[in-house]
Amino acid sequence: MRILVVGGGGREHALVWKLAQSPKVTELYCAPGNAGISREAACVSIGAEDIPALVDFAVEKKIGLVVVGPEAPLVAGLVDALEAVGIAAFGPSRQAAMLEGSKAWAKEFMARHGIPTAQYRVFTEIGPAVEYARSLGSCAIKADGLAAGKGVTVADTEAEAVSVLQDLLVDQKLGPAGRRVVIEERLAGEEVSVLAFTDGKTLVPLPAAQDHKRAYDGDRGPNTGGMGAFSPPPFFTRELEERVVEEILQPVIAGMAVEGRPYRGVLYAGLMLTGDGPKVLEFNCRFGDPETQVLLPRLESDLVEVMVATTEGRLSEVDITWKPGAAACVVLAAGGYPGPYRKSEDITGLEELPPGVLAFHAGTSWRDGRLVTSGGRVLGITATAPTLGEAVALAYRGVEKVSFPGCHYRCDIGARWVQARG
Ligand code: AMP
Ligand code: GLY
Repeated sequence: MRILVVGGGGREHALVWKLAQSPKVTELYCAPGNAGISREAACVSIGAEDIPALVDFAVEKKIGLVVVGPEAPLVAGLVDALEAVGIAAFGPSRQAAMLEGSKAWAKEFMARHGIPTAQYRVFTEIGPAVEYARSLGSCAIKADGLAAGKGVTVADTEAEAVSVLQDLLVDQKLGPAGRRVVIEERLAGEEVSVLAFTDGKTLVPLPAAQDHKRAYDGDRGPNTGGMGAFSPPPFFTRELEERVVEEILQPVIAGMAVEGRPYRGVLYAGLMLTGDGPKVLEFNCRFGDPETQVLLPRLESDLVEVMVATTEGRLSEVDITWKPGAAACVVLAAGGYPGPYRKSEDITGLEELPPGVLAFHAGTSWRDGRLVTSGGRVLGITATAPTLGEAVALAYRGVEKVSFPGCHYRCDIGARWVQARG
C-alpha cells in the first residue's frame, strides 16, 4: 500500500517511523516532512494545508491511505476532499473536527451530552466578558478558533484577564480565531492526555500520557506546543481509565454519531483529574505532539492495519497490543522558543545516541548537506525502558549527546513521578 503522511513535525516523524515498519507499506511519502523524515519517507514539498495540491498528489501517486497529522487541514476539510475522489484518509471529517476547530462548539456539545467539563460562557463583547471573568476570579480564557497552541491563557488576576480579553476581542491579536472567546472556571488537578482510536462505533483507548506544556522547569514560563511527555502516568489507574471511557470518550463518539457527524480517526481528550472526577480541558481531533512520540514506540500492532480498519469501520476486528514498560520524550527547543527563535543552527551528536534512544525530528532541515535547525521545537529525544525512571534516565543520556547553539530543554520531564516512586 502507498501511504502519504501529511505534516512535518515530531508527531509526523513518529508516525512515519512506525508506519515504515509495516510489511504492508510499499511506498511512503510525507508532505512536507523534515530532515529526519526524509531518511524514512520520500518528502514532497507540499504544505500541510494546501488541500488541492495534496489531493492532486494523492490521486497522481495512487495513494491507498492518507494519514493527516495536524489539526488545520482536518478542520479545513482535507479528509472530505480526499474521500470525494475515492482516497481513504485517517482523520475526522471537517464536521467532526469541529470538536477542536471551535472551542465554543465543543463546550456546547459537551453540555448537550452531559460530558464533564469546566463551567463556562461564550462572549464576543468585552464588557460582559470582563464581568464574567471578574465573577470567576481566576479563570481560563480561550480563543474560539485554531491558534496554533497560543489561544489559551490561564489568568491568575483580574488585570491579566482584562488584558487578554482586550487583546482578543478588541485588538484582535489572534484575528478571527479570537473574535469569540470561551471563559471558563479554573480547574485544579493532574493533567493527562487520553487518546483513542475510533471508527465512529468502536473505541480503543491508547495508553495515557502526560505532556509538559510550560517552557521551563517546575511548570514555569509561557505555554508551548509541549516540551516533553511520558507514558504511562503512574497516577492514571485502570479505574480512572474506565471512568474516562464511560463518562467522556464513549459519550463523545455516541453524541457525534447522533448529531450526524460520525467521528473517525484518533480522538484526543486533554483532561484535568479534579476532586470531582476527570473533566475535559479540550478535545483535539488528531494525535498529540509530543504524546505520539511516547505512544507509538510502545505500539506492538501494525499501525497500517489499525488505521485502515479505522477508515473502513472495522476497528472491532483488530487486536491492538502494547509493549509493556514506559517511554519518555525530551524536546530540544531552539533558543528563544516559544517566542521568536534562532534558525539554521548546526545540529551535532545524533550519531552518538545510546542504543535504544530515538531522535524524532521536528524543526530540522538539510542545508548544503548539513543538518540544521528550522523550527521552534527541533528534536524529541525519546527512550523506552521497563520502568518510567529508566526511560527518563535513558532519554536524558541521549539528550546529553546532542547539541546546537541556543538549544534549551526541560530537565524535569516525568521527574515528579519518578521521585514520587523513589
Ligand atoms: P488547552 O489548549 O485548552 O489544553 O489549554 C492549554 C493549557 O491551559 C492546558 O493544558 C491547561 O494546563 C490549561 N488550562 C486550560 N483550561 C483550563 C482550566 N479550565 N483550568 C485550568 N487550566 C486550564
Ligand atoms: N501536546 C499537546 C497537543 O498536541 O495539543
